[in-house]
Amino acid sequence: MVCFRLTPVPGSGLVLLFLVLGAVSSYALELNLTDSEKALCLYAKWQMNFTIRYKTTNETYKTVTISDLGTPTYNGSVCGDNQHGSRIAVQFGPGFSWTVNFTKEVSAYSIDTISFSYNTGDNATFPDAEKKEIKTIDGHVALKIPLNDIFRCNSLSTLENKDVVQHYWDVHVQAFVQNGTLSTNEYLCEKDNTSTTAAPIVPSTVPSSTTTPSSTTTPSPTTTPSPTTTPSATATPSPKGKPDVGSYWVKNGSDTCLLATMGLQLNITHDKVASVININPNATGFSGSCHPQTALLRLNSSSIKYLDFVFAVKNENRFYLKEVNISMSLANGSVFSVANNNLSYWDAPLGSSYMCNKEQTVSVSGAFQINTFDLRVQPFNVKEAKYSTAQECSLDDDTILIPILVGAGLSGLIIVIVIAYLIGRRKSYAGYQTL
Ligand SMILES: *[C@@H]1O[C@H](CO)[C@@H](O)[C@H](O)[C@H]1NC(C)=O
Ligand SMILES: *[C@@H]1O[C@H](CO)[C@@H](O)[C@H](O)[C@H]1NC(C)=O
Ligand SMILES: *[C@@H]1O[C@H](CO)[C@@H](O)[C@H](O)[C@H]1NC(C)=O
Ligand SMILES: *[C@@H]1O[C@H](CO)[C@@H](O)[C@H](O)[C@H]1NC(C)=O
Ligand SMILES: *[C@@H]1O[C@H](CO)[C@@H](O)[C@H](O)[C@H]1NC(C)=O
Ligand SMILES: *[C@@H]1O[C@H](CO)[C@@H](O)[C@H](O)[C@H]1NC(C)=O
Ligand SMILES: *[C@@H]1O[C@H](CO)[C@@H](O)[C@H](O)[C@H]1NC(C)=O
Ligand SMILES: *[C@@H]1O[C@H](CO)[C@@H](O)[C@H](O)[C@H]1NC(C)=O
Ligand SMILES: *[C@@H]1O[C@H](CO)[C@@H](O)[C@H](O)[C@H]1NC(C)=O
Ligand SMILES: *[C@@H]1O[C@H](CO)[C@@H](O)[C@H](O)[C@H]1NC(C)=O
Ligand SMILES: *[C@@H]1O[C@H](CO)[C@@H](O)[C@H](O)[C@H]1NC(C)=O
Ligand SMILES: *[C@@H]1O[C@H](CO)[C@@H](O)[C@H](O)[C@H]1NC(C)=O
Repeated sequence: MVCFRLTPVPGSGLVLLFLVLGAVSSYALELNLTDSEKALCLYAKWQMNFTIRYKTTNETYKTVTISDLGTPTYNGSVCGDNQHGSRIAVQFGPGFSWTVNFTKEVSAYSIDTISFSYNTGDNATFPDAEKKEIKTIDGHVALKIPLNDIFRCNSLSTLENKDVVQHYWDVHVQAFVQNGTLSTNEYLCEKDNTSTTAAPIVPSTVPSSTTTPSSTTTPSPTTTPSPTTTPSATATPSPKGKPDVGSYWVKNGSDTCLLATMGLQLNITHDKVASVININPNATGFSGSCHPQTALLRLNSSSIKYLDFVFAVKNENRFYLKEVNISMSLANGSVFSVANNNLSYWDAPLGSSYMCNKEQTVSVSGAFQINTFDLRVQPFNVKEAKYSTAQECSLDDDTILIPILVGAGLSGLIIVIVIAYLIGRRKSYAGYQTL
């Protein structure tokens, strides 16, 4: 049984319908497939588009991109069982069809083959096509996912052959759903998994073309297959490693006015489950604005709509992190949003930068914390795009020094030693001014 829904328009009569999301030319497809007992057996949500090259009557080539899929139907999608694989079948536009099939093993399932068909006989989409025919492109994916894990790949995956380039992004899929309940365990594609330190696994996506005979004088393909990554099928998710450190900046005109260097790890508690997400700087966009009393650094990525850090000035001589706002989509498709404009972190004198190499936690709400690593930030008074003298966090020193002070009694001598130590240490960062 296939169910789909059109949002925000309420469905007519039957259960669930098809969902349109996103910007002008990109539509999110979403499918909740249920079995004869009405239990969820397959969930999928994804975006895709296709660029197709075809030969025209005058021996030249034309290229058309199919990104508006209209209102698709899902006829032919099946739950499958241990013997027969599961399948998503989508029909859209004039004569396009797309299927992906899944096979089940003891402790894993595989995305087997993606198959895409188009009809060059549709002269509105393929004007002047030399041949009027249905072409089918099969791409063998062979991606293994632990059973009962939901596969996520927000990053762009590309399947490419000489005539068709297929783009996939914001992919969430779980086949052979156990007990009708979508998993909260994510299995990430390599591009999304920023904690991956293992050696890259040899990709196995070799799209093969099974087109019906095409022209004989095809020029040699200039494209090379660009496979989707294939992580190994180890079923146990390991704890996240340290996130990569990213460098971010904001400009006011041509002058850099805000600098930030940091590794960021988000800790989101949703439905009582904490998910830890490392921000991959390579896949993160940034922007912002600078004003005399406030400064904004905004990060975004394919899943993070925005992650805002708002800095403010206090007592006319210090800055601090005052506000953090986030809106991001989670693996199950829901949107997670938190805002707190009453924070007090990363406090340092104006004209200096704030630095903390140790892991530090910014607690935005009960459900949302940010762990920072190798942090350095300067939201005001940046000169020549370089950090000024750093004020370092006192995270470890506090825990070490307090027992000393208490244990030894507040003898003047000890206090003097401690102050001298702090001054000495502060000095050692004075020269630390480059990016
Ligand atoms: C699929 O099910 C999920 C969870 O019940 C729901 O949030 C989502 O709207 C459903 N989508 C469709 C297209 O029915
Ligand atoms: C197709 O998708 C890719 C990846 O998201 C995007 O870069 C490209 O602009 C899209 N093409 C169209 C015509 O929407
Ligand atoms: C082929 O046809 C297209 C229009 O269909 C035209 O723009 C192009 O100039 C033609 N090329 C040649 C070589 O005639
Ligand atoms: C899909 O099935 C519905 C009825 O279940 C039917 O009306 C529709 O024509 C079918 N679409 C295609 C493309 O086969
Ligand atoms: C998946 O589909 C491909 C072609 O579309 C087919 O060759 C393959 O046998 C199918 N696999 C299963 C398990 O049905
Ligand atoms: C498209 O095909 C229809 C018939 O199938 C024909 O009437 C029409 O003229 C064609 N249009 C173009 C632009 O070739
Ligand atoms: C599904 O239900 C069965 C029986 O209630 C239980 O043993 C099994 O652990 C459940 N599996 C999952 C993945 O929740
Ligand atoms: C980011 O890019 C750099 C250089 O291009 C590379 O060394 C690094 O491994 C990438 N990091 C991730 C998480 O992809
Ligand atoms: C990320 O990659 C590591 C190393 O390959 C793997 O152990 C871990 O399970 C992956 N995490 C997720 C959530 O897929
Ligand atoms: C994530 O947050 C939960 C709940 O606040 C906490 O128990 C857990 O230790 C945190 N994990 C990390 C890696 O920060
Ligand atoms: C931004 O640039 C304008 C024009 O150069 C300047 O007047 C303003 O003070 C700058 N603002 C900040 C916060 O640097
Ligand atoms: C961040 O947002 C900007 C504009 O809103 C967009 O152009 C860019 O692609 C986004 N970056 C990422 C990595 O999603």
